[in-house]
Amino acid sequence: MPDQWLPPIKWDGDAVAILDQRVLPHREKFLYCSTPEQVINAIKTMAIRGAPAVGVAGALALALGARSIRTEDPKDFRRKFSRLCTKVKNARPTGANLGWAVERLYSIVVENPGAKIAQLQKFILAEANAILKEDVAVNLQMGKWGREVVPKGARILTYCNAGALATADYGTAVGVIRAAFEADPTISVYSCETRPFLQGARLTVFELMRAGIPVTLITDNAAGSLMSRGMIDVVIVGADRIAANGDTANKIGTYMVAVLAWTHSIPFYIAAPRSTIDQGLQDGTGIPIEQRDPSEVTHLNGKRIAPQGVSALNPAFDVTPNKYISGIITEVGVLRKPFAKTIRGALQA
Ligand code: MRU
Repeated sequence: MPDQWLPPIKWDGDAVAILDQRVLPHREKFLYCSTPEQVINAIKTMAIRGAPAVGVAGALALALGARSIRTEDPKDFRRKFSRLCTKVKNARPTGANLGWAVERLYSIVVENPGAKIAQLQKFILAEANAILKEDVAVNLQMGKWGREVVPKGARILTYCNAGALATADYGTAVGVIRAAFEADPTISVYSCETRPFLQGARLTVFELMRAGIPVTLITDNAAGSLMSRGMIDVVIVGADRIAANGDTANKIGTYMVAVLAWTHSIPFYIAAPRSTIDQGLQDGTGIPIEQRDPSEVTHLNGKRIAPQGVSALNPAFDVTPNKYISGIITEVGVLRKPFAKTIRGALQA
């Protein structure tokens, strides 16, 4: 029986196969990328999205790129590979996992100065595939820890898409929901549609329905009303970058949901692997926020909805201050306040 969850990316031996998330849920179409530029383009145009999935895509783009560097000189290889690393890293700025994956692959070249080019190419491909495999294992672990914070029969609110599609497989926040549902089939989910790209309406709802997990789609602006009417027991979302003090960047609108949850004394959890943590940033003020094309706001499905000539702003992420976060679900446990201390501990575990 085919898995109800769709992994968004795989290495098919010759190319990187990317499930084009722009056409989901209506079509299941794969893009076969045989050059790093094609993968970078898939990342920029959101054919693949979600911080951990973007990290995996970046790693596989580098494996493709390393393979195609034509030189006999190791120094020249390193120079060209380093240039490619910079290009891949800059494909999307907010998610920490992309930079993390690129650093991990670059360190192979640095740590093996005596290796032949063919060997380096082999190591880089092996490491990229290891990143993909590890991401799934880490998500399964997160599910195990995270399901403990889900009360019996909980009605869970989630935002954006942090499912199998946003990772190598299984998902972070949706992975927790998946694990919780296996233990308690009476739970249910409210998914915010997530303007402007509609990851909630198109992807989260699609994934949950395929898996038979009860889900109700709501507009983003209905979240507060549902909370005030006692219809939400817990909020679980993913993350794109977490600062050393726990301030968390996630899809634009997450901050509003967190403040609402706080106001209604509803626990608000982040689910994210440690590769999303950026220890180099003391707090969330330094997190780079991707600004996307205003046409994503003025248009819906390619059709203009706002008057011609209107100015529109399209920040793709916002930062939720740590005060609003009840816990951060990672692969090594659920981190509690004070986050500066527990995050440090988790990174050393
Ligand atoms: O712009 P996107 O779709 O890449 O944004 C995705 C999110 O904000 C997710 O919530 C986040 O990456 C966590 S995914 C496991």
